[in-house]
Amino acid sequence: MKQARMILDKDFTIGSVDKRIFGSFIEHLGRAVYGGIYEPGHPTADKLGFRQDVAKLVRDLQVPIIRYPGGNFVSGFNWEDSVGPRSQRPKRLDLAWFTTETNQVGMHEFLDWASQVKAETMYAVNLGTRGADAARNVVEYANHPGGSYYSDLRIQNGAKDPFGIKLWCLGNEMDGPWQIGHKTAYEYGRLANETAKVMKWVDPTIELVACGSSALDMPTFGAWEREMLEECYDNIEYVSLHRYYGNRTANTPDFLARSMDMDAFIKSVAAICDAVGGRRHSKKKLGLSFDEWNVWYHSSEQDKEIQKKDKWGPALPLLEDIYNFEDALLVGSMLVTLLRNADRVKIACLAQLVNVIAPIMTRNGGGAWAQTIYWPFMHASLYGRGTALRPIVESPVYDCTDYEAVPLLDATATLSPEGDVTIFAVNRDLKEPLELSADLRAFGKLQVAEHIVLHHDDVNAINTEEAPNTVAPVTKVDGTMDDGKLSISIPALSWNVIRLKKI
Ligand code: AHR
Repeated sequence: MKQARMILDKDFTIGSVDKRIFGSFIEHLGRAVYGGIYEPGHPTADKLGFRQDVAKLVRDLQVPIIRYPGGNFVSGFNWEDSVGPRSQRPKRLDLAWFTTETNQVGMHEFLDWASQVKAETMYAVNLGTRGADAARNVVEYANHPGGSYYSDLRIQNGAKDPFGIKLWCLGNEMDGPWQIGHKTAYEYGRLANETAKVMKWVDPTIELVACGSSALDMPTFGAWEREMLEECYDNIEYVSLHRYYGNRTANTPDFLARSMDMDAFIKSVAAICDAVGGRRHSKKKLGLSFDEWNVWYHSSEQDKEIQKKDKWGPALPLLEDIYNFEDALLVGSMLVTLLRNADRVKIACLAQLVNVIAPIMTRNGGGAWAQTIYWPFMHASLYGRGTALRPIVESPVYDCTDYEAVPLLDATATLSPEGDVTIFAVNRDLKEPLELSADLRAFGKLQVAEHIVLHHDDVNAINTEEAPNTVAPVTKVDGTMDDGKLSISIPALSWNVIRLKKI
């Protein structure tokens, strides 16, 4: 029997969990908006055209913040196209994804939808083809009460009250050669700084995210962060990180270890931020915004065909990864990694939310269902709030192609304001359960309220419209509590949420 040990103490904490780490992302890309959240004529559509079956699945995730409108899309986007009478909005070629954007869902419509699903919006400005002028104008449009050109235009367009968007991204992946308006770190840093200044002069209450590297393996990684931060450190609050993983070699042990790369990425960016801050004698500590993370690889070949066949088609079915069971396990480990770094990561966005590399899938005119990755994301969002605890974990380890000493048990825990403890754990062992013994004596009397387990015998199992519950969590009450010590079995290859209630 393989054994693992965990020690938790209420005084050993990482920090309070910023609920925005359970954010997500909707880009004007593929069927995320058109055919995803919005489908007028669908049997569940409301009078604005928003699918209520999708809205319910989103609400159930309790996503506190949604990044919008891109992504690569934003680097060629004119925000002005997306406001005003719909019949007069232009159709534009989208050079990021080689499709056509109709602008039928724009800023007002999206913000209406976001409030339906009880989420704030994190709005990205275009620093690809545009710059400080368009950015200050969109802040004035969205946040200024009235009495100026753009704020009065918003009122004329039907929104008397300001939208009050608090969090803004200064462009997207500006380090990537694929980006419309790709820049060097110095060019971007200067532009980000000048844009940040004028955006904050319009609304000093906003917070800003500067673009870090679009992946850890970018050749410019590290130098990019350092050089651009030298230019804009004083005027921004967060640096972004993006990371996607795939199991291209069908090597599950390797794939499940990828969260170690995510952890290293976070630690490296935090260190670079602090080095720049230190050199500048700054008292300010930057936060991290992991505003794109997920598994993304299943749809890559199919997308090439779609784009070859139907270039410039609107709402093409792009990036429609169908997630399997092992993807859900890695997503679980990535959530554990975000919680373990809750002192530094203040915002994170599962990329994306509907149809495009998403936990929620839809069929045009048909159903909406939860993919495998929906479940760990929902559990972490619902039960991972409060204080992130700093556990001591002892686990057997394994070696694989890319990593050494990978713990079989990937686990962390949170403490709610009510004194309840939740343990999140992935067992990476392909075959054997782990017998976990957790020392919880510091928390007083606790009892196992539920043990949620996500497991399937086949790592390739998927959910479909016809069989949406193939990979779905089961809830049991098991394990024993003896004098503050929990003994519980963590099944082979599984995602676990152990909810311990204070009694
Ligand atoms: O999320 C899909 C794409 O991935 C985004 O548009 C881009 O920012 C990233 O490369």
